[in-house]
Amino acid sequence: MIEIDQYLAQKKEIVNRALKECLPDTGPKAVREAMSYSLEAGGKRLRPILTLAGAETLSCDDHDVIDVACALELVHTYSLIHDDLPAMDDSDLRRGKPTCHKVYGDAVAVLAGDALLTLAFELLSRYGLKPGRAEKAARIGSELGKAAGVTGMIGGQVLDLEAEGRDLTLLEIETLSAMKTGALLKASVICGAIAADAGSKELELLDRYASKIGTAFQIIDDLLDVESSAEALGKPTGADQDRFKPTFPAVLGPDEARSRAESLYNEAIMALTDLNRPVELLTGLAKKMVFRSK
Ligand code: IPE
Ligand code: IPE
Ligand code: MG
Ligand code: MG
Ligand code: MG
Repeated sequence: MIEIDQYLAQKKEIVNRALKECLPDTGPKAVREAMSYSLEAGGKRLRPILTLAGAETLSCDDHDVIDVACALELVHTYSLIHDDLPAMDDSDLRRGKPTCHKVYGDAVAVLAGDALLTLAFELLSRYGLKPGRAEKAARIGSELGKAAGVTGMIGGQVLDLEAEGRDLTLLEIETLSAMKTGALLKASVICGAIAADAGSKELELLDRYASKIGTAFQIIDDLLDVESSAEALGKPTGADQDRFKPTFPAVLGPDEARSRAESLYNEAIMALTDLNRPVELLTGLAKKMVFRSK
């Protein structure tokens, strides 16, 4: 029986060590400092842990997928740096520290984000250089590229900006959230599964699990923005309302939003029942992502 908190703590340490090692040690200091500042500021490391857990569920060891896991966190951290910029959400606090642009200025923050994104794909190419991995690396690169790009995270961020000050329908907020947050969370699981040689039925079930969890995760992010504190979250609260952002609690009301997140959690767990693999890691992670206070 795995203790999920212990699992999370162990994997976080493995991911943190690998992330530290993958940062470049040459190149202009200003941008390298900004990259490690944001990357090492903390963060739950849920995406790389989902990658490790997806792989482990299909019997693949951490060291065979750690570069892929790091790539997911690099893309995520880049997205946060850009999300906080004055031209986007204009936020001063991230992971309990001043945001990247507050410390290094807008230009270096933009470039640090760009550098983390490109480093992610460098890592994936390196992953693919080992024997027997070339095709998997190409598939993983394609998944991550799509999830981070205009049909995924970037597209969702654009919809999010366009929706400021507008009332959205439930379908619209679900689409936006699936793109801006869900796509990368889904890719986290799927890329780990591809590295573990998942079959098409396994990929289909994991895709369903991760889609449900992705939406539930953003619902909780929106709820915490209303209900929590900056001290607890390490980022400002009330920020969505201040910027007239479309959110799940705004569309559904807070109670309905929470019960929707819980239903999605149950549906995610259901999707795993046909997997015929030990699913306690993925169910434990799903629970942590939905029933969380930060
Ligand atoms: C925050 O993600 C941004 C969203 C996509 C909602 P996390 O809550 O995973 O942030 P960190 O990585 O723990 O800082
Ligand atoms: C951001 O969503 C999702 C990203 C692609 C980074 P939010 O704008 O809600 O994330 P937070 O609340 O600032 O972490
Ligand atoms: Mg945003
Ligand atoms: Mg934001
Ligand atoms: Mg938010």
